Amino acid sequence: MRQQYRAEGLAEDDLAATPVAQFARWFRQAATEGRLFEPNAMIVATADAEGRPSSRTVLLKHFDEQGFVFYTNYDSRKARDLAANPYVSLLFPWHPMARQVIITGVARRTGRDETAAYFRTRPHGSQLGAWASAQSSVVARADLDAAYADLAARYPEGEQVPVPPHWGGFRVAPRTVEFWQGRENRLHDRLRYVAQPDGSWRVERLAP
Ligand SMILES: Cc1cc2nc3c(=O)[nH]c(=O)nc-3n(C[C@H](O)[C@H](O)[C@H](O)COP(=O)(O)O)c2cc1C
Repeated sequence: MRQQYRAEGLAEDDLAATPVAQFARWFRQAATEGRLFEPNAMIVATADAEGRPSSRTVLLKHFDEQGFVFYTNYDSRKARDLAANPYVSLLFPWHPMARQVIITGVARRTGRDETAAYFRTRPHGSQLGAWASAQSSVVARADLDAAYADLAARYPEGEQVPVPPHWGGFRVAPRTVEFWQGRENRLHDRLRYVAQPDGSWRVERLAP
């Protein structure tokens, strides 16, 4: 890791034209060279209407110039926070590469067609799990297992599971994206793209 801290800086001239294109480069490296267990795991921080923060890990399932998409339960704590306050922060902790990416932006629900298309790609057991769990509510393990067993009996393997109405995606449209590269002597590189009103991006360097 020390070698990596020394070898790989991040200069303004190295950056792609958009933060999503730059993210795609780093994500590819994280997936292939990063020795990371789940490079698409990211920490989603939300705040409720009173400004009280909470955070949790979720999996990034899709990204493009429109934003970064994850799927969850729309009755969960995070989703209730986002209904009251759509401002969100995403953090990719790519520690083995001495890198992190921090995105801030605004979260909106994905359309039902997009959600349904993704739901169909999930394993049968995960589809049942989305129905069985009232995410973020207090539950007894026995009740959770019983709910799953009921659903597994109703929808055996091979039978199509309907998309739960309380389940779907959020797309985070980025407003700022910071690329952090660890360097020697704590003189890290921090380059942040900031969205401009005309749709272009300004890049600024932050002190480490
Ligand atoms: C590696 C990892 C990946 C996860 N991926 C997801 C995910 O994609 N969607 C999700 O709703 N929860 C995911 N979870 C569970 C969340 O961290 C969290 O427990 C759950 O979403 C409830 O959060 P909330 O009560 O703050 O809303 C994941 C957890 C871990 C550790």
